[in-house]
Amino acid sequence: MSGERNHGIEVEGLVRAFKDVRAVDGIDLRIEPGEIYGFLGPNGAGKSTTVHMLTTLLPPTAGRATVAGFDVAREGPKVRASIGAALQETALDPFLSGREHLRLQSSLHGIRGQTRKELIETLLARVGLTSAGDRKIRTYSGGMKRRLDLALALIHNPQILFLDEPTTGLDPQSRTALWEEVGRLARDEGVTVFLTTQYLEEADVLADRVGIIDHGKIVAEGTPARLKAEIGKATIEVVPEQNADRERLAALLGRFGEETAARPGAYAVQLDGHGKLPDVIRALDNEDVRAAEINLHQPTLDDVFLAKTGRTLEGAEDA
Ligand SMILES: Nc1ncnc2c1ncn2[C@@H]1O[C@H](COP(=O)(O)OP(=O)(O)O)[C@@H](O)[C@H]1O
Ligand SMILES: [Mg+2]
Repeated sequence: MSGERNHGIEVEGLVRAFKDVRAVDGIDLRIEPGEIYGFLGPNGAGKSTTVHMLTTLLPPTAGRATVAGFDVAREGPKVRASIGAALQETALDPFLSGREHLRLQSSLHGIRGQTRKELIETLLARVGLTSAGDRKIRTYSGGMKRRLDLALALIHNPQILFLDEPTTGLDPQSRTALWEEVGRLARDEGVTVFLTTQYLEEADVLADRVGIIDHGKIVAEGTPARLKAEIGKATIEVVPEQNADRERLAALLGRFGEETAARPGAYAVQLDGHGKLPDVIRALDNEDVRAAEINLHQPTLDDVFLAKTGRTLEGAEDA
């Protein structure tokens, strides 16, 4: 059993430089116990470097951080005893089975005998690997390996869990299964979860709060709902049935909001207020502008990223 679950993560002015690259460039974080914090950003943003500093694998260049109440630079062993981590570069042995990995890991934590046996079965069941437990890792799928990583990270009942892109490359079912288990850990066991992801949907579904990181800096932070509400408005996009109606359509939609980018052949505005869709449809009807297609697009975290960085998260790697 680890200590009391009354500390989360606190970070002030944390920096990590590699020669002239400031991979993490002065970040502040305050994560409450039991919170699921989603650290969202494109490839190269500084997510793993942050995780490596918080898990004591990498010393910070400047700033300070406490994890579970312990300083990452001065109290490494105490930090490590309080946390579990499933990192991107996993070190599973292809010639050992899942159960063998769990046995080794429990021995490292001094867990033995009947306690160990029961713990291993509980963890295997929890990540859905009971029947695959005796298979060698080289026969595991990517999703199975990530689930075993999670089980290994949970062996010593950590109060804080770090997951670095836990679902990258996983199929949708494995992803959902992992989300469910992470949600359960936070909800039922009060585990604090620091999770990095490149997936907007993952941050949106899973995280209580999201920090968006770009070029080593946090560019936005808040609950997914609040971040999206800040961007505010939904976009309505209408494809006129007849091209000749385009100008009348533009004038009509212009009464409901400001023009914004649309697909070819369509016209779109960002709506001024909430619940405007029925009004727009009524106006189209009244003024006899026929629509081939009407799409309502709620703001997403990608819109938030776009607003803060001028790029879309999904395309950020190419930029
Ligand atoms: N060991 C290292 N040596 C030099 N540069 C590094 C090292 N680790 C990371 N970087 C650089 O730091 C930046 C952030 O990397 P990383 O934290 O891995 O990003 P992310 O996990 O968000 O994809 C990148 O520009 C990367 O090339
Ligand atoms: Mg990374």
